[in-house]
This record gives sequence, structure tokens and C-alpha cells, in this order.
Amino acid sequence: MSVDTKGIILAAGKGTRLMPATLPASKPLLPLYDKPMIYYPLETLVRLGIRDILFIVQEDDLPIFQKTFGSGQEAGLNFSYKIQKIQRGISDAYFIAEDFLDGASSVLALSDNVFLGKNFFNYAEEALSKMKQKGSSIFGLTVPDPEKYGVIEIDQNDNIIGIEEKPLQPKSNLITPGMYFFDSSACEHAKTLKPSARGELEITDLIGIYLSQNKLALQRLDENIIWHDTGNADALLTAAQKVKKYEIENKVKVGSYEIASYEKGLISRAALLKIAEKFIQSDYGQYIKNIYLKDKN
Ligand code: G1P
Repeated sequence: MSVDTKGIILAAGKGTRLMPATLPASKPLLPLYDKPMIYYPLETLVRLGIRDILFIVQEDDLPIFQKTFGSGQEAGLNFSYKIQKIQRGISDAYFIAEDFLDGASSVLALSDNVFLGKNFFNYAEEALSKMKQKGSSIFGLTVPDPEKYGVIEIDQNDNIIGIEEKPLQPKSNLITPGMYFFDSSACEHAKTLKPSARGELEITDLIGIYLSQNKLALQRLDENIIWHDTGNADALLTAAQKVKKYEIENKVKVGSYEIASYEKGLISRAALLKIAEKFIQSDYGQYIKNIYLKDKN
């Protein structure tokens, strides 16, 4: 029996680089322009047709996450919540998510990584199908400062031959941003990982296991894809400005997982309208009701 791919959003970061903005609310819930930052990865998962989504959060944040997102039912989705007690690194998600996944493949998204661009969802679909064929896949994009990220080494045929976390001497400018596609063996592989020098179970080490088994595919993102890791105040502001500009130029609303759910046929027009009415005092609610749904019957 084939089990549907499930989604995991790692939203347990303390946001220390954003203090004191993160004193009252955790980083994934801070606004990125007109919606909480976490809406953006959530939208991507929904556009991939993923309905079962696990939020991994800090213990203190659990009530506010549950109040914000509930069961997901209203948006045609199925949300679960788990706590990360100690920050042990990104791969720790596969210890926490093991029961939730129950043998399913998964897409793991970091809550502070935001992608913008017309073709982004097509690339995400490609990455998902490559994972299904090969075992795992990652995005690759070119940046000027690769030493801050997971760096991918490739051969002349664009095959991945290595991956290193924040190397002092990067072997390329190609890095892997925070969205990962793994088959059902991710939990078993995670159990074999050892903490890195910075004391974390690195995602690049988990990816490295797939690579060593020749089960890793690369999905490149082109230069029109805007990517942000919104770790500090400047990055957060820049990303918010880019979202606003992108929405105006393309006459769309990005990051709306509710619209994504409607477009995937998971909720009816009436259900989306009900969501819009809840936010009708804001531009977000107004947009869904008076612009987006206007010509849809
Ligand atoms: C993490 C990952 C790194 C990845 C980055 C993307 O880095 O370890 O491989 O490129 O997210 O945002 P960290 O957030 O720990 O600096």
C-alpha cells in the first residue's frame, strides 16, 4: 500500500538573533509582511497536495500554535503538533516525527525559509517526484556566501558528489536551502547520526547518508527564485519588502495556505469565504473575498 507523503515544519527555533522581537512570540509566528512567517512554507506543503502536517514547536509555544492553526480542518487539512524539548539540530525532526510519519515519506520545511517566484511550486513538485523515484531530493541554489549554509559539491554532469555544513572553504557556491524531501527511511537513518562539532544532528549528515547510497537527487532553483533565510531583523524586513513587491507586481497573494487548499480542491468556495470573513477587517481577508473569489463561482 502506498502511503501519502506527509509534511513537517520545524518551528522550534528560539529566534535569539531576532531578540527582543521574539520575546512575546516565537519566530515562526512573527509577521512577514501581512501574515505569520510560517504561512509561506505551509503554503508550499499544501500546494504539493500534502494534507497531514506536523508542526514541531517549543513547549512554551504549543498553546499559541494550537490557537493559531487548530486542527486544520477548517482549511481542509490535518494538523498535528509535537514538542522539541532540546534543540538538537534539524535532523532531530525525524526522531520527533517518527510516530506521526508512521512509515510515510516526507517533506521537511524550516519555518524561516521563504521562497518566491513563479516557477517555485513547479520546482517543488519536481523535487517531490525525484524523491519518489530516487529516495531523496534537495534544492540547490547559487549564493554569494555559501559558507553560511549546507554546501553542495557537484561533478560535470550535475550529480551531487558531496555535501558539507558551513565549510570554511566551500567547494562551490551551490547551497541547499531549508526544504528537504525524504523517503520513509529518514527516521532510521537519523538514528545513526552523531552530533557535529557544533553539537547538532546536522541535516547535511542525513542527506549525506542518502548520497552514500546513491539515493539523492538535485533540483536546481533558477536565478529568478528569491530565497530568504529570515534569521535576523534585516533579513526579515528585506523578505517582507520582497513579498509585498512580488504580490503587487504579480497581482497574487503568496503564502496563503487557505487559497492553496481551495486551489487543490481541499475546501469549497464557501469554506474559503468563511475564512476570509474571519479576517475581513484586514487586507488579507478583503483580498480573498473581494479580489480573489470575486470571479470564482
Ligand atoms: C540550516 C542548515 C543548512 C541550510 C540552512 C538553510 O542552517 O543546517 O544546511 O543551508 O539551514 O537556511 P542553520 O539554520 O543551522 O544555520
